[in-house]
Amino acid sequence: MKSWPTVKKISAWLSASVALGCASAYADMTPRQTQLLVQNCVQCHSNPHIGAPLMGDMQVWGELAKEKGEEGLLHSVIFGLKEMPPLGKCSSCSEEDFRAMVRLMANLPTPEKKAQEVVQAGDVK
Ligand code: HEC
Repeated sequence: MKSWPTVKKISAWLSASVALGCASAYADMTPRQTQLLVQNCVQCHSNPHIGAPLMGDMQVWGELAKEKGEEGLLHSVIFGLKEMPPLGKCSSCSEEDFRAMVRLMANLPTPEKKAQEVVQAGDVK
C-alpha cells in the first residue's frame, strides 16, 4: 500500500498540530472528511516538487489565507488552479467538505470560532 506512509505522516502532523494548538479547525473535520482529504489532496499537498502549498506549512497558508480568504481558496479548489485539477480530483467531495478542508489546511477559523470572535470584538449589529 503506497499511501500508508503518507497517511501516517499526515495523521502525525494532525495530532502534532492539535497538540500545539495550531490546527484550530481540526475539530471541524468529520472522520469522512479527513479520509477524503488524505485520499485526494494529501498526495499533492505533501509533495514538495509540484508547487502545492504543503500541509502544515503555516507560514505559506497564513499568507494565502490573508490574501484570498476562505472564499478565494474555496474557489481555487472548485475551479482548479494551475497544476491543481478542478475539485482537487475529489469528485465525491461536497462544498461543505471542501470548506472544512480549506479551513484545516489554511488554519482558518471554524464558523463557531468566527462567531465567537465577532461577538468578542463587539462587532454584532
Ligand atoms: C494534482 C495535485 C493536487 C491535488 C490532487 C490537490 N491539489 Fe490543491 N494545489 C495543488 C497545487 C499545485 C496548488 C498551487 C497552485 C498554484 O498557486 O500554482 C494547489 C493549491 C491549493 C490551494 C490554495 C489555492 C490558492 O488560491 O492559492 C488550496 C486551498 C488547495 N490546493 C486545496 C486542495 C484540496 C482541498 C484538495 C483535495 C480536495 C487539493 N487541493 C488537491 C495541487 C493539488
